[in-house]
Amino acid sequence: MNRYNLRSFLPFKAHYLARFRSVNKPAAKKPWGGRFTEPTNELVEAFTESISFDSRLYKQDIQGSIAHSKMLAKIGVISDDEAQAIEQGLIGIREKIDAGDFAWSTELEDIHMNIEARLTDIIGEAGKKLHTGRSRNDQVATDIRLYMREAVDDIVALIAQLQKNLLDLSSNEIDTIMPGFTHLQVAQPISLAHHLLAWNEMFERDVERLQDARKRINVMPLGSAALAGTSFPLDRDMTCELLGFDRPSRNSLDAVSDRDFLIETASACSVIMMHLSRMCEEIILWASESYKFIDIGDAFCTGSSIMPQKKNPDIAEIVRGKSARVIGNLQALLVLMKSQPLAYNRDNQEDKEPIFDTVDTVARSLQIFAAMIPSIRFNRSIMHDAALKGYATATDLAEYLVRLQVPFRDAHEIVGSTVHYAIEQKKPLSELSLEELRSFGSMINEDVYEVLSLDGSIKARSHFGGTAPVRVKEAVQAAYQRLEEQS
Ligand code: ARG
Repeated sequence: MNRYNLRSFLPFKAHYLARFRSVNKPAAKKPWGGRFTEPTNELVEAFTESISFDSRLYKQDIQGSIAHSKMLAKIGVISDDEAQAIEQGLIGIREKIDAGDFAWSTELEDIHMNIEARLTDIIGEAGKKLHTGRSRNDQVATDIRLYMREAVDDIVALIAQLQKNLLDLSSNEIDTIMPGFTHLQVAQPISLAHHLLAWNEMFERDVERLQDARKRINVMPLGSAALAGTSFPLDRDMTCELLGFDRPSRNSLDAVSDRDFLIETASACSVIMMHLSRMCEEIILWASESYKFIDIGDAFCTGSSIMPQKKNPDIAEIVRGKSARVIGNLQALLVLMKSQPLAYNRDNQEDKEPIFDTVDTVARSLQIFAAMIPSIRFNRSIMHDAALKGYATATDLAEYLVRLQVPFRDAHEIVGSTVHYAIEQKKPLSELSLEELRSFGSMINEDVYEVLSLDGSIKARSHFGGTAPVRVKEAVQAAYQRLEEQS
């Protein structure tokens, strides 16, 4: 392989950095450089850095460091003045980063060393004391837990907004009748609001899963140091309280190494995306020319570059597509963790990109979905007519016969033959004459037409959890109530 080919195999970042450094500046001093006699190979530097993605943790890193330094002052390891200087220095750094005015250095590897090195540049000696009784191992585990706690709260709030919009839509569709499906074949008539509330149930469970994962996220690793704890008499309850964690971790080895809390959250996020994807599938079908159940607002559709008539439900398609990457990220995290011996291994640096991507993708998908939902208009008469086709009230006829003492299996048989006849006659059941119906079951009376109507069918399913409009109305109210309590 010649030189040119080899270069083209290097990631862009690597040769950009190689060129940049040789021209512009000498290598920065590594905080861990004491043991080393040779400079780090530039490929190693580019390969091992994480600042290009973990700079995102700067707020949490600074929050954790301020709590740690306050605690070091309280136990007398540093002076109050030093803790003050550290805090002021860190706040200044946070402001610089907020303003986009902070130069990240790849030579300083990660967020932790970038901030610590800058702190020492600014405040001098005191900055060098911040890392007492701490390691990047418990530091990064603390940062990512702080980050995830906030991310979970944000995702729960986004789900709540989507639920609110879904419930608003449901309130207007309690008496709208549509076909309910099994096997994607018309099965029984249902209230459209009942269908929308089924989506809401999924989101309620999604919130429960996230809130449950949050309990295990909110445990503080700080104080575990590299793996075995530290010889300084840290007050872990103090840092725990300052950082809003529920409790300090019980085992230092476990605390610095396991990322199961990320896996759980990524799993809850995968279930959210799976649910959104199921909704997407229905929205795509319903918007199709064959169904015509819904119109999605123009603002939430896109067109075709060649077919002028097209209006495509791209949001739903992209969200359905994005579920793939979130599920893939879960897989990546599981495989990342599965063979790691105790305690910390650098493998864990690979947890950040999949979990950040998961949080971003779920948040953006929920946000766009919540915005699109109110733009949906239902074609009520088309939905109603679709429920008339497909003999959706056949079960009602069978249940009618059961009430006249016909055993259910016999009733099923009788109705099967009746439907077969009606198909041949090209008529819905409700248009067969009483005489025709009686030829299949002599016990049938005039009142049968009440159960053959769509309205009669849904009204009859009036037990708790059923599709009768009276129950669905209560269900919408109860769902609003739970949503209120959830937030
Ligand atoms: N960037 C590292 C990570 O994300 C931080 C911890 C580094 N620890 C170490 N011993 N090299 O996991």
